[in-house]
Amino acid sequence: MNTTALTPFAEDILHGLKSDEKHIPSKYFYDDNGSRIFMQIMKMPEYYPTGCEFEILTGQSGNILDSLNFEGPFNIVEFGSGDGMKTRQMLKTFLDRKANFTYIPIDISQEALNALEKNIKTALPDVKMQPKTGDYFDVLKSMADTKVPNLFLFMGGNIGNYLIDEAKDLLKKFNSGMKKGDMLLLGMDLRKNPKIIQKAYDDPHGITKAFNMNLLKRINTELDADANLDQFDFYSFYNPENGEVHTYLISLKKQQIHSNVLDTDFSFEKDELIWTELSKKFSLDEINKLAKSTGFQVVKNFMDCRHYFTDSLWIKQ
Ligand code: AVJ
Repeated sequence: MNTTALTPFAEDILHGLKSDEKHIPSKYFYDDNGSRIFMQIMKMPEYYPTGCEFEILTGQSGNILDSLNFEGPFNIVEFGSGDGMKTRQMLKTFLDRKANFTYIPIDISQEALNALEKNIKTALPDVKMQPKTGDYFDVLKSMADTKVPNLFLFMGGNIGNYLIDEAKDLLKKFNSGMKKGDMLLLGMDLRKNPKIIQKAYDDPHGITKAFNMNLLKRINTELDADANLDQFDFYSFYNPENGEVHTYLISLKKQQIHSNVLDTDFSFEKDELIWTELSKKFSLDEINKLAKSTGFQVVKNFMDCRHYFTDSLWIKQ
């Protein structure tokens, strides 16, 4: 056995692939290669959420600003800001409207934050920016006694990746780090014609498949394993009864994968599944209930013209 401590990835793969119902946490999609594949996903015509949120933030940021109840200066605190392309639309409108704010993007990756800062500073030199590196909740705690009101951003639909109880826990944690009257803008994908959702997660280009196969590549490189990618397929399923997309890798035969780092074999039956992602779609009714049960009230839903996606503005009660 390798005596050095296991990485979180190694621990989670060991646990997930030794379970009766095999699973891999979807956060592991996003290594450098996976992040590049995700950018390709965002460019596919079938993957509507990105375009929808871009439309919302381009067209309705003025209305979002009007819906904030802040007097005087405020902070915009963004969790997991990505490349900032969409947020930029909002910041630009806020600047044009002479709003007095400081933009505080939070990310665990210093590299991602540096790129974002450069990107925003070039496009919008007048934005006051205070990027913070670290865990969301540590940063939240460190901001607890600022007098200035905060608008928190958690966009892109990332909340949809959490199981309902985990989503509630996360939102309650956000809530407990907020002051009464602070606001949260939460991106959520909405229920719609199942065929539209199915196509977004089972694209004809094979990009979503490649995104999933990258998990096996990571296992091979980071855990020194011997998975043969040709012996796995990809399956994606949207269930309109509960609004959940589930994606899977499927073992095409009875086989074993050996990892030298973990010093173990993983056994697969023919047609056995590895669950790789949940992507939950919400109804407006579910959104209201989720807000209430986590200490918020929905102020307004900002939706694209087709009502495929919402940036839901919540206030802390
Ligand atoms: C980044 C979590 C919003 O669930 O739609 C896209 C990730 N997975 N295609 C989503 C994803 C497959 C995406 N989020």
